[in-house]
Amino acid sequence: MTFDRRVKIAPSILSADFANFGAEIRAIEDQGADWVHVDVMDNHFVPNLTFGPPAVKAFRRHVKTVMDVHLMIAPVDPFIEAYAEAGADILTAHVEAGPHIHRTLQAIRGAGMKAGVALNPGTPAEAVAHVLDMADLVCVMTVNPGFGGQKFIDMTAKVRALRAMIGDRPVHIEIDGGVDTVTAPLVVAAGADVLVAGSAVFKGGSVEAPEVYGQNIAAIRKAAG
Ligand code: DX5
Ligand code: ZN
Repeated sequence: MTFDRRVKIAPSILSADFANFGAEIRAIEDQGADWVHVDVMDNHFVPNLTFGPPAVKAFRRHVKTVMDVHLMIAPVDPFIEAYAEAGADILTAHVEAGPHIHRTLQAIRGAGMKAGVALNPGTPAEAVAHVLDMADLVCVMTVNPGFGGQKFIDMTAKVRALRAMIGDRPVHIEIDGGVDTVTAPLVVAAGADVLVAGSAVFKGGSVEAPEVYGQNIAAIRKAAG
């Protein structure tokens, strides 16, 4: 993975057909996805449950781009090795998931992955000020995590603050939640470069009509400018 700040679209397979992940991953990649975003939820840190390391390992066989794994779980540290073995390229942990984000990011890099740190809407940018040299990505949640299809919460001031804090460091700013053709340009103008989108990519499409995914991805990319 080489670093650049071109806008990347990362469809979240939380909005895919859960009985057909392999074909869904191949479809979004064929239709222009830059990364594949995988939402891991534990029904503890967030009030929803998705999948764990064996499922993520199975997804890996279908991902040709970048597998971006977003952990909405607590604790994180006991599972880092399992997600490395599952083949995550980027592993993102929430700063709110435990008291030791510094140790967690160290452990993620130590396991050979890129390290991401996510911020809930109520958490200030300053929460990551002292770990920016240990992170490859900061994920700004623009919904309260747990579900796809929620309304965008405006975090552009936080994105601008992070962009200034990051400076020349090779750290991505990722936006997760409610990204569509209306909200994408706002966050990109504020300094974001990775756009996660679940419902806005998968809406209206299917593995039988994958061109709709392509149209949705292209529309977000065009709106982002
Ligand atoms: C929310 C997840 C998101 C979610 C985004 O907890 O982290 O990745 O799938 O879904 P949309 O794009 O539908 O808001
Ligand atoms: Zn996510």
